[in-house]
Amino acid sequence: MNYLFRKGTGKPLILLHGTGGDEQSLMEIAEYLDPQSTILSFRGRVVEEGMNRFFKRNGLNQFDIESLEEETDHLLEEIIRISEENDIAVSDWTMLGYSNGANIAGHLLLERDSELKKAILLHPMSLGVDTQSAALLGKKAILSFGENDPIVSEDTWQQLVHQMERRGVDVTLVKTKAGHQVTMEEIDQAKTWLYS
Ligand code: MLT
Repeated sequence: MNYLFRKGTGKPLILLHGTGGDEQSLMEIAEYLDPQSTILSFRGRVVEEGMNRFFKRNGLNQFDIESLEEETDHLLEEIIRISEENDIAVSDWTMLGYSNGANIAGHLLLERDSELKKAILLHPMSLGVDTQSAALLGKKAILSFGENDPIVSEDTWQQLVHQMERRGVDVTLVKTKAGHQVTMEEIDQAKTWLYS
């Protein structure tokens, strides 16, 4: 898997871009959150009409669950391998995902038994997979939603929020008046959350 790794002295952040992005896409946000951060930024392995993604889909919001499961396993293996190579505890990372990247990060948190504990999910949605029931105590996530988002409906966002709450994830919610784009308002709240 293609990735960028930068060792710093601050918060370790795993970056997962949205559809059509790459490992550079969330760098500016990461630097704003913590200029000293250690960064592990992945490029999704799936290419859809030239756009990088973290798992396949069969049209807008029609997710290919087989691809989702396969890519989630691969991503977790890569995170563990790179963490070991660089002597970073997996539990120290905060995942920062936007849209498609937020969706795989949320799936990883909910559907895999891993040491990953924290996630900033910008404009995520439920992928309709809910197979686990173990309590996820000690895990926390901040989830943002734009009230005028043409891609993520409030229902599907709420479904994900409920799924996290039911599993005991400590959830912080940010609603803005925006659409699918990331706003300063949610980044500032994510920053406060990261240092809380
Ligand atoms: C996207 O276009 O990235 C969707 O909103 C989310 C996804 O496909 O996972």
